[in-house]
Amino acid sequence: MSGMFDLCGKTALLTGAGRGIGLVLARGLAEQGARVVINDLAAEVADAAAETLRKEGLDARAAAFDVTDAAAVEDAVARIEKDVSPVDILFNNAGIHRRAPLVDMPEEAWRAVIDTNLTSAFLVGRTVARRMIPRKSGKIVNTCSINCERPRPEIANYAAAKGGLVLLTRAMCVEWAKYDIQVNGIAPGYILTEMTLPLSRDPERNAWIESITPARRWGKPEDLIGAAIYLSSDASNFVNGHVLFVDGGMRYAL
Ligand SMILES: NC(=O)c1ccc[n+]([C@@H]2O[C@H](COP(=O)([O-])OP(=O)(O)OC[C@H]3O[C@@H](n4cnc5c(N)ncnc54)[C@H](O)[C@@H]3O)[C@@H](O)[C@H]2O)c1
Repeated sequence: MSGMFDLCGKTALLTGAGRGIGLVLARGLAEQGARVVINDLAAEVADAAAETLRKEGLDARAAAFDVTDAAAVEDAVARIEKDVSPVDILFNNAGIHRRAPLVDMPEEAWRAVIDTNLTSAFLVGRTVARRMIPRKSGKIVNTCSINCERPRPEIANYAAAKGGLVLLTRAMCVEWAKYDIQVNGIAPGYILTEMTLPLSRDPERNAWIESITPARRWGKPEDLIGAAIYLSSDASNFVNGHVLFVDGGMRYAL
């Protein structure tokens, strides 16, 4: 494999990659030559995902930790750098939803979503960047969302977290670009995963999503692989602080 999209010799850490978008992106990066480290909360989930990729002939390891726990993040990243290899590419992908009308939203639901979807990117990003900076090299990709600029009812916590993640992406770029670290975001539209099952199984919401998306369909996790490879590879070496929408055009139709 050669060329500017080649990821051979690179190690990518993907958070929340035991299933869904993260797992598919891990496979996409590994097929491009990267060694991938799959994080998730539960060890059995991360282990099973890594094992699945290894059976496909790909180079995959597992690293279970909670991305909201600063001490666990520090320990895990130190272990990965010592036992596996320096992290060249970080995907801050872990995320959750806790839907509720804003006036009824429990404080716990607000804090959990901000912690998992925004604070985690600060914690893991800071920890990994402390090691990328002396090496003067690195790629960080933050998984944002169409909702980062278009909130919908009952997801104020999620929209606020993803909007914050866009600004965190730009802030990381402003501070770390001089170390040849590129920090960008991917903003998926509506993608069919377990996270969006409550929407895809609801006939009314499902019909709304299909009709409002100019491409007239849900996205698949595989639709994000091209953007992920681009933002992880030398092809994007002067692209920084950018958020790439992969949404079938929904951004301009909502
Ligand atoms: N599915 C969509 O339509 C969509 C759209 C836009 C953005 N996104 C974003 O893409 C990312 C992946 O979404 P998905 O649809 O694959 O979701 P998913 O629920 O299928 O996967 C998320 C994974 O993150 C893990 N996770 C949750 N909390 C964690 C923690 N504290 N530490 C480590 N891992 C944790 C979960 O265990 C799960 O395996 C999320 O950030 C989500 O907000 C998804």
